This record gives sequence, structure tokens and C-alpha cells, in this order.
Amino acid sequence: PEVSRIRNFCIIAHIDHGKSTLADRLLEMTHTLDRTQMDSAQVLDDMDLERERGITIKSHAVQMKYCSVAGDDYTLNLIDTPGHVDFSYEVSRSLAACEGALLVVDATQGVEAQTIANLYLAIEAGLEIIPVINKIDLPSSDVEGVASQIIDLIGIEREEILQVSAKAGLGVPELMEAIIARVPSPADNGHLPLRALIFDSVFDAYRGAVVYLRIVDGVLRKGDKVRFFANNKVFLADEIGTMSMKRQPKQVLEAGDVGYLICSIKDVKDAKVGDTVTHADAPADKRLAGYKDVKPMVFSGLYPVNSNEFEDLRESLEKLSLNDASLVYTPETSVALGFGFRCGFLGLLHMEIIQERLEREYNMNIITTVPNVEYRVLMTNGETVIVDNPSKMPDTARITNVEEPYVSMQIITLADYIGNIMKLGMERRGEYRNTDYLDTKRVCMHFEFPLSEIVFDFHDRLKSISKGYASMDYEYIGYRESELVKLDVLLNGEPVDALSIIVHRSKAYDWGRKLCGKLKGIIPKQMYEVAIQAAIGSRIISRETISAMRKNVLAKCYGGDISRKRKLIEKQKEGKKRMKQVGRVEVPQEAFLAILNID
Ligand code: GTP
Repeated sequence: PEVSRIRNFCIIAHIDHGKSTLADRLLEMTHTLDRTQMDSAQVLDDMDLERERGITIKSHAVQMKYCSVAGDDYTLNLIDTPGHVDFSYEVSRSLAACEGALLVVDATQGVEAQTIANLYLAIEAGLEIIPVINKIDLPSSDVEGVASQIIDLIGIEREEILQVSAKAGLGVPELMEAIIARVPSPADNGHLPLRALIFDSVFDAYRGAVVYLRIVDGVLRKGDKVRFFANNKVFLADEIGTMSMKRQPKQVLEAGDVGYLICSIKDVKDAKVGDTVTHADAPADKRLAGYKDVKPMVFSGLYPVNSNEFEDLRESLEKLSLNDASLVYTPETSVALGFGFRCGFLGLLHMEIIQERLEREYNMNIITTVPNVEYRVLMTNGETVIVDNPSKMPDTARITNVEEPYVSMQIITLADYIGNIMKLGMERRGEYRNTDYLDTKRVCMHFEFPLSEIVFDFHDRLKSISKGYASMDYEYIGYRESELVKLDVLLNGEPVDALSIIVHRSKAYDWGRKLCGKLKGIIPKQMYEVAIQAAIGSRIISRETISAMRKNVLAKCYGGDISRKRKLIEKQKEGKKRMKQVGRVEVPQEAFLAILNID
């Protein structure tokens, strides 16, 4: 299509404000899809897991044809963006592939943390922003209140804010016209050497990586030899095309187009989000701006419950990582848990998704250790060591200092909850920066936190202390020195490496005491007494004792009926599934995660 008739845009919104519902309406209005093809659930989220969580995890793009009221034909490319902070780099690349963004705000909720975080990303990417107030059909909607929040936020005129009900289809035709009138057409750069931005890639078992890209400059033809900037590898463009609900093969993609490329890439790590594709023979001299190698932020050990399933676990991780360039794993051994893998994730949600997929899709029975961040340790000999496993923390005597990752966080809430949130901030070693008033009642609070303090239940705590009226978002800002120590747990005098954690010195005693108490409740009685101790270096700081089991449980139903006895044995077996033998002590899976429930 002619460049002036192309509109590339995305929808940004806080979770549940109606992004997917609105996308469905647009697809329906442009007959990209009819109602019969849509079940009750949204069309753009196609993984089961995504649907269950209600979060769009992977971005996709859809092409729509639209004939305007004035009678002109347009090609609209809607690029879907993931909604969670774990995937914010992918969001930023999806935005970079667009010229405009619909900023959707729920009329009953108002501006939330992700509204603002996504808005900033969109402004940074230089996008034209079209604010859209959604759910105006609901009786509890406060359109004027929300409109004034938006005006304060982006300094726009009231008339420029659209009002829709994505559910009822109200205001959607007007929105379509606003998109073609207000989103700029792509730059006419067809004459330049090829540069295409990769904003997503997925793995197809038959075709290899399917690369989603936006042609920024030049022309890409089927059969061209293409080169990827990140690794300089050259591939043949076997198939190119655009996406409506299915892939539509094409001969050419030109500047301004959004489409896909298939070129026999065996590993998605060769087609990284943010990379630039050019021609192998007449390459562009510079890649597009904004490329970043995404680094995992959260680490955890994954071990098979059954040690002979180690190879199965390796295979499953291999398959998963084919599809997920940001999942990293290396084999490791634990004295307590045997052979397993240290895995790196973008964040806690990413970690949960991988664990769930391993269990559901690959039928793996795994034990996971408490997630931790990555520490930078400056040694007395001048070396810097990266520690992604607490049990590998060097001896204090050899350490000059330890640094940990920090994030800057914004929390949007009602003024009534400022006090509670300040308190939570202090508990989590937060450094308070300032508070902005969004209107008379709503505020945006800024903090800086060690990442390790928010990877656990921070979000849940925030929700509960604000009765649900708080939303948060954060970004990584770099490493800072902290007073950190390693806390070890010993069972009958033996350190259990998989239970070691790294904590701030000021919290070590408290955590040691609570952790021992918690473990006492989780580890079942054994045939002999079990001592649970917490230690910093060689110093024991806390102790609990589990007394020995008195009688054989089965003895209780001696002479009783046999079916009851069998049930009891079954039950014990069931319980054993997730037990690990650590020295002489049987330790259930929950023990390895006990820390997560301590506050
Ligand atoms: P995530 O994918 O989790 O980010 O959510 P989303 O922003 O895509 O929101 P989604 O479209 O899933 O909508 C969230 C809920 O709001 C769903 O239950 C929708 O049915 C409902 N909803 C969306 N738009 C409207 C609307 O205009 N009116 C009403 N009443 N409900 C709506």
C-alpha cells in the first residue's frame, strides 16, 4: 500500500482497562474477523495460560483494512503489547514499531500506574497519543473526572479525548476515524538501504523462528539475503508477508509495512527483539536505535523431585528456551537437591509462567528454590564476582563490598493510603523520593527499592494495605552497595545449601528466627530429633527443635479396617511426592519456599 494510507498503532492500558476487548471491536469493525470466529474470550491472547491470567504476554500484530467515511482505503496495523513490567523491553520495541498509541483508561478506575508507565514509554518513542476513555456504559463511570486526570497528565484539550464502550461498541466508529486522522503515516523511506525492526519472534516447530518486524527503511523481497545486526548471521528470506488472523505470504514488504519473516532460523536467540534486519549485500551502516540485550533479573534453582528426571528437565528447558529468548539456564549441583538448573528470568511473573509450563506441558515434577536477584561482589583481591546463587556467596573475610540491583518505583493510590505505603516502603528498605498529586484525591508516590525487596510478595502487600486502591510499576536503575550477609540454614548441623538466602544485615536476626519457626511447622516429624538452625558464617543466630516421632502412625489403626490403613499409606505417598531427602531428613518442597511467606 501507499505509505500515506498506512497507520501503525498500538493500544496501551493498565491491566483490565479493556485493551483486548477494544482490539476485538476493531477487528470486528474492519471485518478482519466476524463475531462467529470470536468466542467469548479475546482473540489476541492465544495461549491458555495468558487467558487464565488475563495478561497479554507475547506481542503480536494484526493487519486490518479500513474504508474511511470519506471513502479512502487504509491499511491499519495493530501491534499488541504485553502488559506486564517483566516484559517492558518488549513493550518498548513494539511501541518503536508504531507511529501512534491509543491510551485506554477505564472510566470507573481512572489513571493507574501502568497507564503512566506505558504513556511515558510511548512519549519517549515519539508516538502520537490518542486518549480513550473506556467502559462509559457502566453506571459507576466518571468520564469527566477521568478526563481531567488525562488532561493534567498530557496537557491535551478535552475535545481530543474519545469516549467508548469497547464492550457495547459505542464510539468505536469515531475512534477509527480518529486513528486515520491523527496517527501520522510512516516516513517514506523506501529509497534507503533496508532496516527492519524486530519487535517480536516466536518459534514454530516446522518453520523455525517467525520474526515479526516493522520495515523502517528500504524494501524487503522474498528470496533476499538478510543479515541480523546483533550476530552478523546471514539468512535467506524464504517467506515474508503480513498477518491478519493468519499469515499472508507476500512478495514484497516496503518501508512503513509491518509483517513477518521466515528464514530457517533454528533458535529464537538468533532473532532478538530490538535487533535490526538489513540486506547482506547492500547493508545499512547503522542499526536502528534502542537495541538492548535483555538480562534476566530473577534467578531460581529448578530441580527434579525425582533425580533420574534430570535429563527430561534439561530437554524441557531446551524446548522452552527455543521459544523464549529471555529464558537462560545452566546446570548446577546442590548438596541438598542434587542435579538441577539455575534459571534466570525477567521477573517473578516470567518465572511463574515457566514453572507452570514445565509442570503442565512437560509433566515435570520440580522443586524450586527461593528466587533471588544477582549480586555483584567486589573481592579483597580486586576481582568482581557475579553471584546468582546465595550458596555461592564467598566468605565474608574475602569480600570488600556487595552491590545489589535497585529499581525506581511509582505507586499510584488515594491520598488516604500514603501513610500505609510509607510504612511498607520503610519495611522494604525503600528510599522515598516524592509524591505528586494527580488530582485532589489521587497521588503518585516515587520510591527507590532494592529489587530483592520487591520480588517477593510486595504487590500483594501493597494491594492489601491499600484495599486494592494502589497500582505500581518499576524500572531497573542499576547497582548499589548494601550491607548484605548470607544466612544459612542447618538441619542437624548440616548446612542445606538450597535454603541459603542473602539478606540485609539489619534483617538477618529477624529472618533467621522466623525462618526457623516456619521450617519447624513445615518439616514433618522424623524418627529422630531434628535441629533447625540459622547461621551467619559460623555464628548460630537461631534454633528450633523438632522432636522425634513417638509412634508408628500405622500403629494407630492396628486391628482397624484395612481400607483406612491403605488410605493412610496412599496419603503418605502423596505427601512424599514433593519430598527431598536432605542428609537424613525428609524436607518437603514448601520448605524451600518458606521465605516467601515470611513478613
Ligand atoms: P489485560 O489483557 O489483562 O491487560 O486486560 P485488558 O486491558 O485487555 O482488558 P480486557 O479487554 O480483558 O477487559 C477487562 C474486563 O473489562 C473484561 O471483563 C471486559 O469484559 C471488561 N470490559 C472491557 N471493556 C468494557 C466496556 O466498555 N464496558 C464494560 N462494562 N466492560 C468492559
